[in-house]
Amino acid sequence: MSMKNILCIGAGYVGGPTMAVIADRCPDIKVTVVDINERRIAAWNSDELPIYEPGLEEVVKRCRSRNLFYSTDIPKGIREADIIFVSVNTPTKTFGAGAGKAADLQYLEKTARSIVEHAENGKIVVEKSTLPVRTAQAMSRILHSNTKNLKFQILSNPEFLAEGTAIRDLENPDRVLIGGMETPEGEAAIEELVSVYARWVPRERIITTNLWSSELTKLVSNALLAQRVSSVNSISALCERTEANIDEVTGAAGKDSRIGPKFLKASIGFGGSCFKKDILNLVYLCGHYGLPEVADYWEQVIRMNEFQSRRFVGNMLAAMFNTVADKRIAIFGFAFKADTGDTRESPACSVCLQLLEEHARLNIHDPKALGNAKLDLEGATGEINYLEDPYEAAEGAHAIAVMTEWKSFRELDYRRIFDSMEKPAFLFDGRNILDHAALYEIGFNVYPIGKKALTHF
Ligand code: UDX
Ligand code: UDX
Ligand code: ADP
Repeated sequence: MSMKNILCIGAGYVGGPTMAVIADRCPDIKVTVVDINERRIAAWNSDELPIYEPGLEEVVKRCRSRNLFYSTDIPKGIREADIIFVSVNTPTKTFGAGAGKAADLQYLEKTARSIVEHAENGKIVVEKSTLPVRTAQAMSRILHSNTKNLKFQILSNPEFLAEGTAIRDLENPDRVLIGGMETPEGEAAIEELVSVYARWVPRERIITTNLWSSELTKLVSNALLAQRVSSVNSISALCERTEANIDEVTGAAGKDSRIGPKFLKASIGFGGSCFKKDILNLVYLCGHYGLPEVADYWEQVIRMNEFQSRRFVGNMLAAMFNTVADKRIAIFGFAFKADTGDTRESPACSVCLQLLEEHARLNIHDPKALGNAKLDLEGATGEINYLEDPYEAAEGAHAIAVMTEWKSFRELDYRRIFDSMEKPAFLFDGRNILDHAALYEIGFNVYPIGKKALTHF
């Protein structure tokens, strides 16, 4: 099959950047991205892209209308495509069997059904969304329920990009993983997709496995990463009760090459659309396959994450004389991590809701995520102000709570901020990114994560 047309169904955080980089690296392939959300497609075709991601705009501008197209015409896209990537959303089910744990596959199933309806020849269908293991099988059944005698090959090609570094991760991935059926047709389909990535990814970094290994690897990778964060955060609690310093502990532990230095940063907790969802998926799968001990083991990673944000708010309350009622608190950062406007599962949201319950008044500042913050807190009761200017956010506040590790927070004039605040002024650094000794010198009472607080009383 000579391959010329790639279609991606779902123009979100995964499909958008991934297709932009494929189009950029494969000028001879026509890449079309479709979505049912017309506003999203219009935004991809405009100067205001629907998601913020460093470097994305340049790539999109370079390729758009050359070999990268955004459209709402899903039937036409399906008819013309040789390879179809499916990257629709697969949120955790909120209803029925498996609610709160299993993945909600309704969008995926609808997509499979529209492929069946509109396809006029056989195609390679690539799962890009994070899915429970064995989803490919369900997908295959739906696709092969067609009465046109069309043959489909299903591949799993999980996405490992992290938001904020998506373009870099796509251009220079640690690995690309492609899973397929262990049949001659399956292997041919794998090779077809390998040949796309091989244009810019060294061959030895393209790993091929069977379908189920590929699907499970995605869940396991995210579970192991989240587990590292929860492990470190659990130890940060112990550090705060002792004389140990979490950065010293992880710095020294990470020097062991078996442990490694990355992903050991203590925080108010992990967020993002993947970690919690994927672990819940794993937990559900383990339960389903009769492994309750394994399910409990992984569920604890999520419980520890929830404990960490509760603990943070508890520390704020304890420091501020056991009440924040009526106190103004500046929230620095609402995104779940730096360099993104994404706020899905952001620990900042959970901290804000807990503070509102305590009747605090919030001034929220974030360089990119204020729009999403407003949507997330729409139904919340209490006083919330959204401020583009961090100095305005801190003015008259009793405390600053750093929620996101934005670089810009390090470059602020904290003396000016201190002078404008109520006294005693408190600073809770939920990311350990600021110079705590310098802040203490200015006059702040400083509460880092996993380290001794620096207080003037
Ligand atoms: C993650 C995976 O890294 C990526 O491979 C997968 O494809 C999608 O899920 P992402 O959610 O975009 O990516 O961000 P990531 O950098 O993994 O951070 C997740 C959360 O963990 C963030 O809230 C981050 O602040 C937190 N984190 C990360 C820590 O608290 N400490 C760390 O040391 C690292
Ligand atoms: C360990 C630490 O590695 C060492 O730094 C510390 O000083 C003492 O404890 P040790 O117990 O000698 O050293 O052996 P290690 O290689 O760490 O293995 C410990 C156990 O884990 C062994 O039973 C080993 O078989 C098992 N293991 C290790 C696995 O099952 N899988 C692995 O991937 C690694
Ligand atoms: P992710 O982080 O996995 O990319 P997003 O929610 O950002 O998730 O993106 C998923 C996209 O998939 C959304 O823009 C949504 O409108 C789109 N989508 C969901 N169902 C369908 C469907 N049946 N056909 C086309 N697009 C769909």
